[in-house]
Amino acid sequence: MNPSFDVKLTRRDLLITGAVSTAGAASASLPSTAQAMAAPAAPEKISKQRVAFEVNGKPVTLEVDTRTTLLDALREHLKLTGTKKGCDHGQCGACTALVDGRRINTCLSFAVMHEGSKVTTIEGLGQPGNLHPMQAAFVKHDGYQCGYCTPGQICSAVAVLDEIKQGVPSHVTGDLEARPKFTVDEVRERMSGNICRCGAYSNIVEAMSDVAGERA
Ligand code: FES
Ligand code: FES
Repeated sequence: MNPSFDVKLTRRDLLITGAVSTAGAASASLPSTAQAMAAPAAPEKISKQRVAFEVNGKPVTLEVDTRTTLLDALREHLKLTGTKKGCDHGQCGACTALVDGRRINTCLSFAVMHEGSKVTTIEGLGQPGNLHPMQAAFVKHDGYQCGYCTPGQICSAVAVLDEIKQGVPSHVTGDLEARPKFTVDEVRERMSGNICRCGAYSNIVEAMSDVAGERA
């Protein structure tokens, strides 16, 4: 007896048997076209909730699908399109806004979680003719090219200066008991969640140093 011949036969048999049984199972479990057409579509269950918060100093009340992210509430419901949607997965930072003074990725947070919060978007930081110092510094130092990441970068930059001022350490802070210094490493680490596909990073650091009044 040739053992390899036996093995080939056995594999072939197994493949044929498997294919036949899979096809049989699939045809048995699939509904006919008529059955599928006759079946009523399940009604979509939408759970709505009212949320009241403050956006750029103004009180806002929305009734939203509970799955609505803060980013979509800002952009789609309130038409504040300065906050950008990049990845929608918490990976690029384009959607960064300030909530109660802290920066968050608004694509990762449901609007209904922010009852009573104070939300500040790029529109609330400053406007043409009355720019926030960080907005003015980005313009002065060319801290952008296409500008898509810029609102998120500016909101993050404002929060980073506050973090350093308040003595909040980062992953690269050497001495956890001393006040962190405004250095290139600190800025790069703290801004690492804000991706700029145009690569304006060095000018962003320049803009931040200008506002911080220190040379990074
Ligand atoms: Fe929110 Fe990219 S859109 S992190
Ligand atoms: Fe274009 Fe940052 S300026 S992605």
